Amino acid sequence: MATSDSEAEITKVKTIDEQLGELPRGLSPFYDPLLRHEVNESLESGGEVFLSQDPSGVTDGLFIYDGFEATGTIFTRSRDVFERFYRIKPSSYIFSELEVAEYPHEAWNIWQLDVDNASSEYRFRYNVSICHEAAEIERFMAVAEPETNKRWVSVALANGDKCFVVKIAGRIVGIAWMTIVGDVARSHGLFVAPRFRKLGMSRDNFQARLIYLKSRGVHTLINEISESNVASHRLASSEGEKVVGKIYLYESPKGKEPS
Ligand SMILES: CC(C)(COP(=O)(O)OP(=O)(O)OC[C@H]1O[C@@H](n2cnc3c(N)ncnc32)[C@H](O)[C@@H]1OP(=O)(O)O)[C@@H](O)C(=O)NCCC(=O)NCCS
Repeated sequence: MATSDSEAEITKVKTIDEQLGELPRGLSPFYDPLLRHEVNESLESGGEVFLSQDPSGVTDGLFIYDGFEATGTIFTRSRDVFERFYRIKPSSYIFSELEVAEYPHEAWNIWQLDVDNASSEYRFRYNVSICHEAAEIERFMAVAEPETNKRWVSVALANGDKCFVVKIAGRIVGIAWMTIVGDVARSHGLFVAPRFRKLGMSRDNFQARLIYLKSRGVHTLINEISESNVASHRLASSEGEKVVGKIYLYESPKGKEPS
């Protein structure tokens, strides 16, 4: 138990089966179907998960946090719940779909693709494959995205996340992850090594993911892109994705975590 007061109770989740129960729908308009999967991966890779319950025992918030990355996401519709989670982890980057105008934040767009109606008429330039080798992916990510929690890669692979890669001379030079839960997928972690950019590798990677999504019967793909990321924005829009919502990136107050 982390904290409690007369308004709400915040509980630290230790195991997904015993404590999480059925998460109510409505914590997030877009991420609801993925939340259980995200909680599981976070716990398995050493992250922390907090639940908030209102006085009648209804879950009204979820906070998933990774201490290695000092990054977390708050899922709630309640400003009070946001406020309490936001203060649990100082000096961190916190995402939330709730916009709090008083706190400085960066807006990210949530993009969505209607997979069934996306065209897969396409001529590939590169070979895109699904990589299952944790060590190989970790080596690439350690250079490309050093802020990533090292434990996460093998946990994600074990939980069925798919890592699509483009290789040159046997080495990964471009990557994109995909999480699939039922008929919803989320892509994330798109990265191409700087000297291989603007050659069409991400477009090829996207088209390969599209073929895979169709084969898995996925209907909806979502991903988040910072409003300032022109390259990704252009890529998403030319692939037929549409902006359907916003998620905001906050920096929590500087300081040390309360003991
Ligand atoms: C974003 C990123 C993955 C694009 O990869 P890429 O392999 O260079 O992209 P592609 O060559 O496949 O480009 C596809 C389209 O994206 C757009 N694009 C790519 N780079 C661009 C740039 N620097 N500026 C503007 N548009 C760009 C173009 O529309 C391009 O299509 P076109 O060639 O027909 O004009 C790459 O720049 C990168 O790794 N950036 C850093 C990490 C990052 O921002 N990841 C995304 C997080 S959401």
